[in-house]
Amino acid sequence: MLYEGKTKKVEVKDGYAYLYFKDDITAGDGEKHDVMSGKGAMCAEITARTMKALKDRGIDNQFIEFISPNVIKAIPLEMYPLEVVVRLKKAGSFIRRYGGTEGEEFEVPLVEFFIKDDARHDPMVCKKHLPLLGIASIEEAEEMERQASDIALALRDIFAEMGYELWDMKFEFGKTADGKILLGDEISPDTLRLRKSGEIFDKDVYRKDIGDPMAKYREVLEACRRHINL
Ligand code: TMP
Repeated sequence: MLYEGKTKKVEVKDGYAYLYFKDDITAGDGEKHDVMSGKGAMCAEITARTMKALKDRGIDNQFIEFISPNVIKAIPLEMYPLEVVVRLKKAGSFIRRYGGTEGEEFEVPLVEFFIKDDARHDPMVCKKHLPLLGIASIEEAEEMERQASDIALALRDIFAEMGYELWDMKFEFGKTADGKILLGDEISPDTLRLRKSGEIFDKDVYRKDIGDPMAKYREVLEACRRHINL
């Protein structure tokens, strides 16, 4: 069984899922697209190390094993077609939608749901939309909210130890064969906003065309290698 997205392929084989990270980088729901050699390997290893760090802190997720250079062996999940965004500081589409100042902190993590649908530009939805659209029950949505908020705070601490500020992030969740909701997919500079003394270390470098994203991703990977054992 094989699924292919913009930046990953997923194969389910012999009871495991294998996530193959591609060298593609996209923005604007795929409108902007480039291929950067080595990008898939960097995002795969950053995902592996951060998911391992979460597991070390007792936060369960899909990660089983990193298969160098760009593959993750994982627990198979039936994914919800959702992007679960957690904001610790204001940035990006929050400011575009509601205004405010970049970097302003929220007192508690803000969790937002978006439907994965490029043709509709990933529309934001309320929790109550999810059962109506047949995507998830209210209970499942609340479980994702709880987990997303806990994971965000744990990741904030993990990145703080490496010297980075975590501003916001996107998670994807799925269900195991026995009905447990688990964090899956990817945790990398593609899916986080990471800052250090005002410098940008995430996909905003590519979205805004303000430098070489691969140089920034490499620094994040090196920090992960220094701080998190696989
Ligand atoms: P946003 O401010 O553009 O809504 O993004 C919030 C966070 O989610 C940010 O860390 C980037 C991440 N993100 C993705 O991983 N994939 C996406 O398609 C979008 C729009 C955002």
